Amino acid sequence: MPASPSPSRIRLGINVDHVATLRNARGGTRPDPVRAALAAIAAGADGITAHLREDRRHINDEDMARLKAQISKPLNFEMAATQEMLDIALRTKPHAVCLVPEKRSERTTEGGLDVVAGHNHLVPYVSKLAEHGIRVSLFIEPSERAIEASAKLRVPVVELHTGAWCEAVLTQDRAGDAKGFDQLRLGARLAQSAGLEVHAGHGLDFDTARRLAAVPEFVEFNIGHFLMGEALFSGLAPVIREMRKVMDEGRGLT
Ligand code: PXP
Repeated sequence: MPASPSPSRIRLGINVDHVATLRNARGGTRPDPVRAALAAIAAGADGITAHLREDRRHINDEDMARLKAQISKPLNFEMAATQEMLDIALRTKPHAVCLVPEKRSERTTEGGLDVVAGHNHLVPYVSKLAEHGIRVSLFIEPSERAIEASAKLRVPVVELHTGAWCEAVLTQDRAGDAKGFDQLRLGARLAQSAGLEVHAGHGLDFDTARRLAAVPEFVEFNIGHFLMGEALFSGLAPVIREMRKVMDEGRGLT
């Protein structure tokens, strides 16, 4: 996504996968993830994220093409590093691709990419996407090993997996909360000092987004499931505006 108006304002990417999950529960066309993306942008989203999974359990090929054609903000295409997905990404030409690990049996993206063991597999994907002007990010655990391995792959961006920390916060695991937050804080610092732009995502809610926003190295959050769930009760636009507000508060901008 392009630079934000203020250097310290965190960009908010909205993940619309679970609008498609709800649609696919019935088949047909409603609710439409593209409509959700347009509403999210109208409410202040800085970009839209969608994950085209191998099994097409939520977003499908047509959704991705429609998102690219219809949204006015950057599209962040999440995908596994497979030839099929690479071909689709090169046809779609999104602003960015976030490479994620993918197992059919998982309910959601359960861990970060294994960048160390996967180095040789990832090299051609990173270079092909970069050759086509697509900004590549790697979705990784906030560990020193993963960050150093990502820097070696010469990607411009890493997205640190916040799932384990968010789960610890949700289950009131104090030790897990403190440890997870520290890993994210130190990971963000290490990644930035290695020349990487640092994003975060997975499982973020108002509380965790506000807290993580205080870590100055983060420049973008990608958030979906919590917001779509809250939108059932409050509506999508108010929920996105509230997320914007808590992120700005966490960053000390209000
Ligand atoms: N970032 C990445 C790389 C993801 O895989 C996901 C989940 O699809 C998210 C962010 C958003 O996570 P959530 O839906 O839990 O907010």
